[in-house]
Amino acid sequence: MQIKRRNFLMGGCAIAATAGCSTSKLFSGGDADFDDNLMALFSDCHLPATNENDFRNYEWDELNTCIAGVLRLNPLPRNVLIFGDLAYTAGDYADYPKARELLRPLIDAGIKVTIAMGNHDRRQSFLEAFPEYSKSTKVPGRIVSIVESPKADFILLDTLQGEQVGVQGPVDGKLNPEQIEWLKTTLAGYGKPVFVGSHHPINEIRIAGLLAGTPKVAGYINGHDHVWRKDFFIHKWTERRVVRTLCLPSTGLWGDIGYTLLRIGDNEAVAELHQHDFFFPIRPRSATDINPEREVILRENAGATCTFQW
Ligand SMILES: [Fe+2]
Repeated sequence: MQIKRRNFLMGGCAIAATAGCSTSKLFSGGDADFDDNLMALFSDCHLPATNENDFRNYEWDELNTCIAGVLRLNPLPRNVLIFGDLAYTAGDYADYPKARELLRPLIDAGIKVTIAMGNHDRRQSFLEAFPEYSKSTKVPGRIVSIVESPKADFILLDTLQGEQVGVQGPVDGKLNPEQIEWLKTTLAGYGKPVFVGSHHPINEIRIAGLLAGTPKVAGYINGHDHVWRKDFFIHKWTERRVVRTLCLPSTGLWGDIGYTLLRIGDNEAVAELHQHDFFFPIRPRSATDINPEREVILRENAGATCTFQW
């Protein structure tokens, strides 16, 4: 059954009007179908529960710009995947209900949103606001998801090490042994192309050999570094195959700011960067307080793509 976008947007506008907010203006759109082979990839949203900025609500506004860009698409992507660091700094309990509220226009539009854990998240507080992941996770004690699409699936792993809510934990990523065993078993029986992803870069989590040795693996995608960066990972210098890797921009804290669209075809998938901002290392404190490098970086990154083949 084809679902029309207009019906969902009407529902979302009604909710926004009831809440007395401007969401309906920001996310207004026309009529569109869904493309099951189109995915939007977000990462490193770093959403605080309250606005603590002098100038404007940077993390919220930048995410809203990304969401508005996705909702203007025709057709809409069936899925949005978020590659970790949804919470602001240390998975505070209040961050996640706010994140759920900010992501609501996507969900109201009929888009399925799937979230992975980053080093600034905490499972305990995340599950209070997103309890559905307790049942859906593929590995008990971790937040692990499989997102299916007609031509290629996604496995989103959990590389978070920190456990105490509100307290900074290890910055680097790690997979627990149960997750690695599950991944080995799952990939061994996989019948279609599959992307593997997590918050952290591939060189931190010791699965490069497994991915390089599994022809069905289409590539590896991560966040964490807040920069659009395509690369390839060599497992053995004696082998011809490399694992294509892509690091995603942040949706709203420092670095490259934007989102990525992944168009999945029969033999390849093309990732497109949609970047609208850059700042580093601190947020702009006024409309003119911007990095001198901003325009050059935006111009250089405009139209950037990364192709994964299988
Ligand atoms: Fe981050």
